[in-house]
Amino acid sequence: MKRRWKIIGTLGLVAVIGGALVVVSGVIPVKASSGHWEITRWFLNFTKERSVATHSTGIKVPDLEDRALIIKGAGHYETGCRVCHGKPDSVRPRLVSLMTPQPPDLQKIVPQREPQELFYVVKHGIKMTGMPAWPELKRDDEIWPVVAFLLQYSELDLAEYDELVWGEHQKQSDQSIDSAEGTSLPVPHLVIEECAGCHGVDGQGRGLGVFPRLAGQNEAYLRVSLEAYHHDNRLSGTMEVIASRMNQKEIQEISRYYSRLPPFPSKENQNGEASSNRDSEAEVASFERGAEIAAEGIADQDVPACADCHSTTRKPFKNAYPTLIGQYQDYLALQIKLFQNRNRGGSKSANLMHAAVDGLKPDQIRDVSYYYSVLPDKE
Ligand code: HEC
Ligand code: HEC
Ligand code: HEC
Repeated sequence: MKRRWKIIGTLGLVAVIGGALVVVSGVIPVKASSGHWEITRWFLNFTKERSVATHSTGIKVPDLEDRALIIKGAGHYETGCRVCHGKPDSVRPRLVSLMTPQPPDLQKIVPQREPQELFYVVKHGIKMTGMPAWPELKRDDEIWPVVAFLLQYSELDLAEYDELVWGEHQKQSDQSIDSAEGTSLPVPHLVIEECAGCHGVDGQGRGLGVFPRLAGQNEAYLRVSLEAYHHDNRLSGTMEVIASRMNQKEIQEISRYYSRLPPFPSKENQNGEASSNRDSEAEVASFERGAEIAAEGIADQDVPACADCHSTTRKPFKNAYPTLIGQYQDYLALQIKLFQNRNRGGSKSANLMHAAVDGLKPDQIRDVSYYYSVLPDKE
C-alpha cells in the first residue's frame, strides 16, 4: 500500500516538473494567428460556460421591456460594443477577425443566453479574451439597458438597428441650427458623429428621460461635467468612454455649442408633446410638494432649499451649477439617487449635493424632480 502511494507521488511530481519544463522552454504558442487547438477551445469554453452559469445564479432581473431602456442600451452598444461585435448585415472590421478568440456575432449567441448571464458577462468581461469589463462596476443601472437591448438584438435588421441608435437623427443632415438668440449656429462635426444619437443635434435628449437634455444648459457646467467624465471623476460607463476620447478643445467647443441652443420649452412634457394632463390632481399635488421642497427644504430631514443653489431662472447662481429647469424627471430622479448612494461624482463642488439630498425619501425625489421638469421658464 505504502509503495503504491510512493509511485503515485513520484509520477505526480514528474508530471508537475515535466509540465513546468514545457512552459519554461517556451514551446507553447501564444500566437493569435493560429487560433486555439480544438482541445484548448473546448476546455476554455467549458470553463467559461460553467463559470458564467455559477456566478450569475441569483442575479435578480428587472423589467427589461421598456423601450426607453432598450434605446439607451442600443446607444451604448453603438459606442462601446459595435467596434468588436459588429452590427446587423454589416462586415466587421478586418482586425477583429484576427483576434483569438474572435468576438462572436451576438445575434447568434444571445438566444442561447439567460438575461442574468448576459448581465454578468457585460459587467465583468471575460479574462484573456479581449472582452472588456464595464468601466464602472457601481453602475448596474447602466448595464441592464444593454441587456434589454441585447434581448431584442437577434431579431433586428440594419434599418431597425439604426432606428434604435440614431432615431430621428439618421434622417437629419443639418449642418447648422438656430441658436437661442436666433442666429445660425454651425453644428460641430463631433456632435453629428458622436453625440447626436443620444442627445440629439438639438440637445433635447431624443425626448427620453434616459438621456439628459443639454440644450440651454449652463456652459461651465457642461464643461466641468465632460472633464469629470474624462478623468473618471463622474461615474458612467457610457459617458466615460465617450469623454475619454475628447480633448480640451473639443470639450470647450461642444459645451459652448449645446449651451447656446434654445432650451426645452417647458410647457412640453417628457415625450416632447404638449402636456395635456399637467393639471391632473395628482400632478398638481406633486408639483406643489416639489415646489415647497425646492423653495424651503425640509427642516426635520436636514434637507436645505434647493433654490439656495439651483436658480429658478436659467441664470445660474454660481458658474458651474447646473440648471434643472425643463430637465427630464426620470433623469433628475436618477441623479439624486446616485448622489445618495455616492455613485455619481462630478466637479469639485459635487459633494455639496450629498448633504443637500441625503435626507430625501423616494416619493420626495419624484416630487422635486417633477417640479423642476415642468417649471415654467421664468426668464
Ligand atoms: C475589444 C473587443 C470587444 C469589445 C469592445 C466588446 N467585446 Fe464582447 N467579447 C469580445 C470577445 C473577444 C468575446 C469572446 C470571449 C470568448 O469567446 O470567451 C466577447 C464575448 C462577449 C459575450 C459572450 C458571448 C458568449 O460566449 O456567451 C457577450 C454577451 C459580449 N461579448 C457582449 C459585449 C457587449 C454588450 C459589449 C459592449 C458593452 C462588448 N461585448 C464589448 C470582445 C469584445
Ligand atoms: C450612447 C449614448 C450617449 C452618447 C453617444 C453621448 N452621451 Fe452624453 N450622456 C449619456 C447618458 C446616459 C448620460 C447620463 C450619464 C450619467 O448617469 O451620469 C449622459 C450625460 C452627459 C452629460 C452630463 C449632463 C448633465 O446634465 O449632467 C454631458 C455634458 C454629456 N452627456 C455630453 C455628451 C457629449 C458632448 C457627447 C458627444 C461627444 C455625448 N454626451 C454622447 C448618453 C450619451
Ligand atoms: C449647496 C448647493 C446645492 C444645494 C443646496 C443643492 N444642490 Fe443640487 N447641485 C449642486 C451642484 C454644485 C451640482 C453639480 C454637481 C456636479 O456635477 O459637479 C448639483 C447637481 C444637481 C443635480 C444633477 C443635475 C444634472 O444635470 O445632472 C440634481 C438633480 C440636483 N443637483 C438636485 C438638487 C435638489 C433636488 C436639491 C434640493 C433638495 C439640490 N440639488 C440642492 C449644488 C447644490
